[in-house]
Amino acid sequence: MTTDRYGVVGHPVAHSLSPQIHTAFAQQTGIDLQYRRILAPLDGFIATAETFFDEGGRGINVTVPFKIEAFAWCGERVTARARRAGAVNCVAVDAEGLHGDNTDGAGLVDDLQRLLGRSLAGSRLLLLGAGGAARGVLGPLLTTGLRSIAIVNRDHAKAVALADEPRLEARSLDSIGGEAFDVVVNATSASLGGVALTLPSDVLGNARLVYDMMYGAEPTPFLFEAERAGAHATADGLGMLVEQAAESFFVWRGVRPRTEAVRATLRATLQASR
Ligand code: ATR
Repeated sequence: MTTDRYGVVGHPVAHSLSPQIHTAFAQQTGIDLQYRRILAPLDGFIATAETFFDEGGRGINVTVPFKIEAFAWCGERVTARARRAGAVNCVAVDAEGLHGDNTDGAGLVDDLQRLLGRSLAGSRLLLLGAGGAARGVLGPLLTTGLRSIAIVNRDHAKAVALADEPRLEARSLDSIGGEAFDVVVNATSASLGGVALTLPSDVLGNARLVYDMMYGAEPTPFLFEAERAGAHATADGLGMLVEQAAESFFVWRGVRPRTEAVRATLRATLQASR
């Protein structure tokens, strides 16, 4: 029997932690698979993915900047959560061919529930950002029974466009001071530029959990601000990364790996890289 092949397609992709995560999942579950980084040229995502599957590959994760192109490539063969996201980060092969999924939102939900130690049902969530990352997580967040999601974005019109059902509300930054949100999630790319978002400090201080979808060796500027404002708990997106990988593994193999040990190893790897 040949080893099943998987990979992550991106540009750049050299720093992806996905091979380490999936190799650990494979060892833990006793599944024989190989998972590698696949660098696609910026204008060559489809050719790269097609070659991989033509040569017998079983599944890919898709990362920056190809998730929207992957969604278009999969056409009608996408899951409901990928359609809601308008993006595909996981492609699998079934009896009828390739199909696209999106496991990012499920990864965030799993990680938030783990960190809170309870379900999100009845909670009020503040989502910062209205780009691809924010859109990608809205559908799974809404399935948890959250009471409401307030969306704040620098370009307010984009928040309004995302707020397409009653529990979603586009809000301006000026209007949220003094409000209590259970969870605040940063889905902007501001941390990438090392920029801290300026939020009313009581919003951060009142939150049970302040979460940044970005991660790194050091706390992101946003989490640094949240800690200074007295947030009850803060977390970066490393847990989401591991949980979306576990969900992808489940999509491909029908087995759900445990994530604690993998998360701890990655955290140690990141800290050693400081
Ligand atoms: P992604 O796919 O990572 O979400 P994107 O679609 O380019 O990337 O969206 C980036 C998000 O981060 C947007 O919500 C953007 O706000 P605008 O829509 O107003 O551009 C937000 N963002 C990026 N840098 C920011 C900053 N310095 N302050 C506030 N928001 C920022």
